[in-house]
Amino acid sequence: MTRRFSMFGRSETDLHLVPMPHAALPIAVLISGTGSNLQALIDQPDEGFRIVLVISDRPDAPGLTRAEIAGIDTEVLPWSSFADRCAFTDALCAAARRKGAEGLVLAGFMRILGPSAIDAFPDAIINIHPALLPAFPGAHAVEQALAAGVRYTGVTVHFVDEQVDHGPIIAQEPVPVLPDDDVESLHARIQAVEHGLLPRVVAAFGRGELAVGGRRVHWKRPTHAEEYA
Ligand code: GRF
Repeated sequence: MTRRFSMFGRSETDLHLVPMPHAALPIAVLISGTGSNLQALIDQPDEGFRIVLVISDRPDAPGLTRAEIAGIDTEVLPWSSFADRCAFTDALCAAARRKGAEGLVLAGFMRILGPSAIDAFPDAIINIHPALLPAFPGAHAVEQALAAGVRYTGVTVHFVDEQVDHGPIIAQEPVPVLPDDDVESLHARIQAVEHGLLPRVVAAFGRGELAVGGRRVHWKRPTHAEEYA
């Protein structure tokens, strides 16, 4: 893979490498379920990225149908077919690489990738989480926000590192918790925000407008998405 890099005028020791703006960055989108965030990426095409593959760990994930309708190649890697997390991760990265992907977007992907994914796609794996991290990491973020009685929860889009729901935060957007909210109603409003935020972040990433410096992500061209970054 050939990658060009931009440092935004900062010293090379400060910032990690990010792709320079060029032709649309090929990405693979990883899903496990409904795929509404995948649909948002399909529906808001941007010159910054193109989806070359959708990977699911579940053969029955409805999001696979969304990809097929959009004419995007799919690959199913059932978790149970692999000896362990490392074998699963290696197969997934190899599938993405075969299609030329230079980044991974985890859009409702319910498996934890092994460390080899970080090596294969350094600063190039993006995850969306339905809470304002570092609050409520894990698989029950919406339930936990309701149980905690917070007035605001929200959406976080972040780069993936070795820990779960932990890497450098790219963008966040708050969502108010309303008095009558249940898990379903709150998650629906969170998802509406996700569908706007994720494509904006992936587009900025694809255009080479994000640079990682420690825990901070710097936006080259600030947008609304950066207001809460
Ligand atoms: C989203 O709310 C995302 O934040 C979480 O899982 C959900 C996936 O939804 N990680 P969908 O499959 O994109 O509809």
